[in-house]
Amino acid sequence: GTDIADRATVIVNDLMGLEGPLLPILHGIQHEFGYVPSETLPVIAEALNLSNAEVHGVVTFYHDYRNHPAGRHVLKICQAEACQSMGSDHVAAKIKQLLGIGFHETTRDGAVTLEPVYCLGLCACAPAAMLDGVPIGRLDDEALEEISAAVRL
Ligand code: FES
Repeated sequence: GTDIADRATVIVNDLMGLEGPLLPILHGIQHEFGYVPSETLPVIAEALNLSNAEVHGVVTFYHDYRNHPAGRHVLKICQAEACQSMGSDHVAAKIKQLLGIGFHETTRDGAVTLEPVYCLGLCACAPAAMLDGVPIGRLDDEALEEISAAVRL
């Protein structure tokens, strides 16, 4: 707890002089910890004269910020238009069912975090996903089953 708050204080002090400091601070916190720990919210709120609820609202509004540690793998499923037209709704439903989690959630064993993403620049290979930064195109049920098995190893 205290250690996290101390490290957050250093980041906050470093960045709070910026104009519009909240997003850079959240970015710095996530970079430091891999997510935005709840212990850092009061530190940020106090420095910027905001309420904890306001800071929490921003963390949950911007899907790039996590409020829990990411799994060992991060799987991002494209939900933008080109992928939508090629069945990304089905892809999302199928992978959620296979992993037993929803978007912005991490499997209980910490294996994988599932996130939506809005265009990966892979529209020609829709429906598309990104696993640990590696693009995967033309997702079908078989590919999803392979991914879901692979991330659990
Ligand atoms: Fe999915 Fe572009 S819309 S990669």
